[in-house]
Amino acid sequence: MGATISRLARRFLPKTEIRILMVGLDASGKTTILYKLKLGEIVLTVPTIGFNVETVVYKNISFTVWDVGGQQKIRPLWRYYFQNSHGLIFVVDSNDRGRISEARNELHRILSDIELKDAILLVFANKQDVPNAMSVSEVADKLGLPTLKQRRWYIQSSSATSGRGLYEGKLKGRLRLQHHLPCQIG
Ligand code: GTP
Ligand code: MG
Repeated sequence: MGATISRLARRFLPKTEIRILMVGLDASGKTTILYKLKLGEIVLTVPTIGFNVETVVYKNISFTVWDVGGQQKIRPLWRYYFQNSHGLIFVVDSNDRGRISEARNELHRILSDIELKDAILLVFANKQDVPNAMSVSEVADKLGLPTLKQRRWYIQSSSATSGRGLYEGKLKGRLRLQHHLPCQIG
């Protein structure tokens, strides 16, 4: 994630503060990701009602990450956090096949909001440690990422509980970015 985030940052320099909005269905792992990034630890989470916000400093750039609760009844509140977001992190439970189309619908709904028209999209295909989890390319397909034409997006496999994938950008992603391809799978 660090390399991915630093790519986001470069686009917005010389700004020193980058505002990142992190959403996704409930129990996809957003709060676990936030505190693993912030504290380097796994915290015992409860479903988020409202939001958590933390500042994560990486390479002298300060990222303010807003983690907004994903339960269905509070998803209408997401849009109140869209304004001024430079980047959008969408977290998916790769083991939740039953709700991947619901995740897709929510993702496409928020991407159609004018406030997010310039935001870069990073998807975490999370819970990759769970046996039989969907692969990162399956998650990308089921979310319809290849159909996004005007959007700079990147998908990263992750396991928030081990920290795998949260910090490192994948070589494939970096190379594709260097060649200015519009999308990356990592
Ligand atoms: P809401 O606040 O309801 O929107 O949920 P959330 O997306 O913040 O989920 P949360 O971080 O609370 O995680 C939900 C559950 O999934 C917790 O029991 C986490 O420990 C677990 N979890 C999160 N990430 C992973 C992961 O990568 N692998 C596994 N196996 N479990 C995970
Ligand atoms: Mg939460």
